Amino acid sequence: MEGKPITPAQNSSNPSASPESDQEVLQIWGRQPLKGHVKISGAKNSALVVMAGALLCPDDCRLRNVPGLADVARMGQILSAVGVKLEQNAGVLDINASHLIDAQAPYELVSQLRASFFIIGPLLARLGFAKVPLPGGCAIGARPVELHVRGLQALGAEVHIDHGTVHAYVKGPNRRLKGAKIYLDYPSVGATETLMMAATLAEGETVIENAAQEPEVIDLANFCRAMGAKIQGAGTNTIVISGVPRLHAVDYSIIPDRIEAGTFLIAGAITNSELSLSPVIPDHLTAVIAKLQTIGAKIIAESPDILRIVPGQTHCATDIETLPYPGFPTDMQAQFMALLTLSEGDSIIKETVFENRLRHVAELNRMGADIRVKGNVAVVRGVSRLSGAPVIATDLRASAALVLAGLAADGVTTISSLQHLDRGYEQLEVKLQKLGANLRRVKEGTDAANVHVPVNPGRSSLNC
Ligand code: EPZ
Repeated sequence: MEGKPITPAQNSSNPSASPESDQEVLQIWGRQPLKGHVKISGAKNSALVVMAGALLCPDDCRLRNVPGLADVARMGQILSAVGVKLEQNAGVLDINASHLIDAQAPYELVSQLRASFFIIGPLLARLGFAKVPLPGGCAIGARPVELHVRGLQALGAEVHIDHGTVHAYVKGPNRRLKGAKIYLDYPSVGATETLMMAATLAEGETVIENAAQEPEVIDLANFCRAMGAKIQGAGTNTIVISGVPRLHAVDYSIIPDRIEAGTFLIAGAITNSELSLSPVIPDHLTAVIAKLQTIGAKIIAESPDILRIVPGQTHCATDIETLPYPGFPTDMQAQFMALLTLSEGDSIIKETVFENRLRHVAELNRMGADIRVKGNVAVVRGVSRLSGAPVIATDLRASAALVLAGLAADGVTTISSLQHLDRGYEQLEVKLQKLGANLRRVKEGTDAANVHVPVNPGRSSLNC
């Protein structure tokens, strides 16, 4: 396959995440009804960890349905920095990790992508040593990794942190990790994934208790099993891995992105538009679908992998508490908050997963929302209208929330700092334009005036 090789120095391969992303803005003329069908891309949070998992295999790995995202491009650069050969051809990514030249990921790449820390488990399992810079915090929280480190130590690794880098190595003649029983103080997605990957090549059996149950954990387990790993219980709170000496080549397709799907369901609800989307795995969206039904929308499964949203005539208030899966996903909190700003009544949103994931509140309030924050709780008092305004995106899901609010607002909303959006949504504006949304990506400073936009008659307000 004539793919495009990815090199460490190369800029992101995702066109909509060009280095200029932070000098571009999205201009959105709101209150346009949407219509039609949207294709959901492969899951970012599965693709990133599965790419790291490919380090476990000394043969060819072919990944399909890989989304074209800045984060995926960055993960490709990190893998190539340790000697992995990658070729990307549209959504197909060929990875060969047969000759790893180093076990150290460069700080300048790791600091831009937290998920790059996932490579520590596979490197340790494959080579018996790894040097990975601490990913550091980000906009939504401190993002510590002590659960990863403690788990690797339980598997027999010597781990110390020096000058911001985690140094891990396995003692003993064969430098092989040893299976162990690990209890996670918190069902961390990343720690579960790191330890599951490390355990696939360890000697003996590993049990991870209080494991994360997210669909992306199951996808990673299925990918590893397709390479010959022996993993049971992924998707439950107890995962059992029996180590094997070696894994083999695989051709694997990534699951659809449940968070992108949830974001588009909300795009339908907030613009009072009927939309359908596929592919989607409805079971991955149970909590989000339940909440949309609570506020009055109808969600119809047109086929096993097609969902349709039919917005009800009501936007009732509801309360949300983010929790580990299968609870309401923290990655949908900002988007749902945007929807609830137009609800009738007071909604209470409690963010329990990350300590600083309410930064979109200030920007939504600039658009006329009425939200008060106390600690990790936001009280959203529904208003009848939002008004377009210039706003700044603070993180990935906050960006999506501002796009959704802009789609519903009177007038034009200008969103800057698009580099956040491009990390996790594949050509979001193109997909929305195809649904009839009136938005464009332009250079910062482009005048949004004198663009004729037919105004939607607007939604009648209804009883809840
Ligand atoms: C994954 O992050 C996702 N990222 C996040 O998606 C998602 O929000 C999160 O899981 C929760 O579902 C990827 O998969 C690349 P965690 P991760 O470890 O693994 C604390 C998005 O928008 N914690 O489950 O980093 C941590 O600080 C992103 O797509 C420790 O205290 O999440 C957080 O408060 C954002 N010590 C909580 O656990 C540790 O050692 C959940 O973190 C590890 C985590």
